Formats: sequence, structure tokens, C-alpha cells
Amino acid sequence: MKISIIYHSESGNTEKMAKLVREGCTGIPDVEAGCMSIDSLDENYVSESKAIIFGAPTYEGSCSWQIKRYFDSGPKGLAGKLGGVFVSQNWPGGGGASFAEMTMIASMLVLGMLVYSGGITAGSPYLHFGAVSARAPEGNLYRNRCFKLGENIAKKALELFGSR
Ligand SMILES: Cc1cc2nc3c(=O)[nH]c(=O)nc-3n(C[C@H](O)[C@H](O)[C@H](O)COP(=O)(O)O)c2cc1C
Repeated sequence: MKISIIYHSESGNTEKMAKLVREGCTGIPDVEAGCMSIDSLDENYVSESKAIIFGAPTYEGSCSWQIKRYFDSGPKGLAGKLGGVFVSQNWPGGGGASFAEMTMIASMLVLGMLVYSGGITAGSPYLHFGAVSARAPEGNLYRNRCFKLGENIAKKALELFGSR
């Protein structure tokens, strides 16, 4: 089963999160995952994916316009796929990451996706709306949250769709 991890990243922090999310996905048997920048999407891989995990930096208290532009361009074929989110922000105490996550989640719902994080029910480290990191995920807390998001989405996608 394939999972796409689609991210926007200018200075590399969200990209580092994406790689950890992918590690979390591929640690689950029968799951392969591809990371791709919003600027170089592999449309075939996305279309074959049962789940898509989106990542963005926080810009002015919301998700970056580059990722929002993708959603607003009316991408086809996302309906029915499982989705998750991760976000990098600069201010650990509240730079708007939650709002960035919810902005992406709103678009995903409108496009017909099934949204999931695992929340506080899927074991530690607990997630809320998705995985959040201050800048690049350097400490164990931030790294493990990215990893856990990938794991949670992969397990749920297998449960919903099976391994093919
Ligand atoms: C135009 C712009 C706006 C930003 N606005 C915020 C913000 O509102 N809150 C915040 O915490 N960080 C903000 N940041 C910082 C980025 O979210 C942060 O540096 C992030 O890690 C960048 O991710 P990237 O390396 O993947 O591009 C902003 C950065 C830029 C360039």
C-alpha cells in the first residue's frame, strides 16, 4: 500500500519532518511511502496512494500559501483517501501551527478526504491535530511526533483499505 507525503518547505525544516513521517510509515509492514515537494508532485504515485499526509510551514499564523494554493487549485482524486497533517512553526509557544493544521484539514474535508491523526488514543507520543515541530525536529519529542504520525496513518490506512 502506498502513502504520499506532500510538503512545502523553503528552508528545509518541514522537509525534515516529512522524512521522519515517511520513516514512521515505512516501519509498518506492507507500506511504502514517497515524500514529494509541492513543486514536484508525482501525480501517479499520489493517485495510487491510499493516504496522503500534508506538511507546511506556518506563515502569518496559518499554513503557507504554497500549500493552500495546491488545495485551492481543485486537485482531483483525493476523495476517499485518508489524510493527515504536520506543521513547522518558529515560535514554540504558539506561532499558529494549530491554525495552520486546521486550515489544511478544512481543505482536505472539503475535497472529500478522511482526516486522522490518532489523537490521544493511539499511544504515546500523543498527537492532537497532527505533528507539530518548532523549526526542524531536532529533539526526541518533535522527532517522535513526526514518526508517530506516519505510523498512525499507515496503520489506519491498512485497517481501512487493506495492503493493496
Ligand atoms: C513569510 C513567513 C511567515 C512566517 N510566519 C510565521 C508565523 O506566523 N508563526 C511562526 O511560528 N513562524 C512563522 N514563520 C517561520 C516558519 O514557519 C518556520 O521558520 C518554518 O520552520 C519554516 O519551514 P521551512 O524550513 O520548511 O520552510 C514564517 C516564515 C516566513 C518565511
